[in-house]
Amino acid sequence: MRFVILLTIILSVAACGGGDDGMSSAAVEGSEIARVAGCAACHGSSGEGGVGPPWIGLVDSEIELVDGTTIIADEAYLRESIIDPQAKVRAGYEITMPENTLTDSEVDKVLAYIEALG
Ligand code: HEC
Repeated sequence: MRFVILLTIILSVAACGGGDDGMSSAAVEGSEIARVAGCAACHGSSGEGGVGPPWIGLVDSEIELVDGTTIIADEAYLRESIIDPQAKVRAGYEITMPENTLTDSEVDKVLAYIEALG
């Protein structure tokens, strides 16, 4: 029994980075905000995506907008996409993102979470 507990601890430490363990406290708060504010309903409970684009692997990736331009999803773009979802709409999604009421500091934390997802 003790061995099993020890093994569980070792495995969860080894898995660090996959879960919340490896994240900064801002990123952990950001994931909580994404859940409470409903972002996770469309972007996935672990950032894996759904009706909205995945957050995993999003930072600094190349994405296409509905007007056909290709841009790099840098921090400025991600911030703008949260504050003003209609400013730049990503191609390939059935719906557009609704407005939200996140404060600046909440946006910072959600961005820290998206960045922590790699
Ligand atoms: C009803 C579903 C829905 C909800 C809720 C939602 N989004 Fe989105 N989001 C989308 C869709 C669809 C897109 C891509 C189309 C677009 O740009 O409008 C998107 C795009 C984004 C992007 C740009 C990512 C990219 O790949 O271009 C960010 C960042 C983002 N959302 C963050 C958030 C945050 C933070 C919240 C919560 C406050 C949230 N979203 C809530 C559906 C949603």
